Amino acid sequence: MALEKLFPTTIYRSKPTRAMAKQLVERLVRESYAFREIDSPGKKWSKQNYEGGYTSYSSVTDLPFRSSEFARLKKWIDGEVKKYVRALEIELPDGKLEMATCWINIMGKHCYHAYHLHPLSVISGTFYLQTPPGSGAFKIEDPRIQSFMNTPPRTLSAKRDNRRYLDIQPEPGELLLFESFLKHEVTPNRSSQDRISVSFNYDWIR
Ligand code: NI
Repeated sequence: MALEKLFPTTIYRSKPTRAMAKQLVERLVRESYAFREIDSPGKKWSKQNYEGGYTSYSSVTDLPFRSSEFARLKKWIDGEVKKYVRALEIELPDGKLEMATCWINIMGKHCYHAYHLHPLSVISGTFYLQTPPGSGAFKIEDPRIQSFMNTPPRTLSAKRDNRRYLDIQPEPGELLLFESFLKHEVTPNRSSQDRISVSFNYDWIR
């Protein structure tokens, strides 16, 4: 008997050196709150679309051009994306992958982010700044699920690679990359502290 695992969904997790992570996290937390202070359009948009939280998704998405700390983060992430692209054996016959958008998420108590994907991008991801216990998981869904006609549930003890949904609990200073087709959500923040992260999309620029 032979079992072959085909069409895997590969996610990428990594961390900068401990010293770099500590410095980056401290400074980016400070800057994220500072951006929230001055981003009136973003606060207005968040009030209507992101209950209990703030995101600069609709207002400030070029953070690396506005702040040297975000530029430093982008430089490190660019290198990690290159490693991920090599691991996936992605070929880009013309053009290249570039960080096209980058935004801040500050999720207060009860704030959540419903299932979605990032259409038109190639690689998406998040760098985590603050994830207190109970502040929500990054939940991903089997990308094939929309094609299933009749699929029985998996056992409660099923291995990670046989499950239909998976919860990932990232730590502060951790980077998570995934292909943009992967449907994901952030479950509600049940902690009284903010959950803070920086998300981004890499597009195929030709
Ligand atoms: Ni997302």
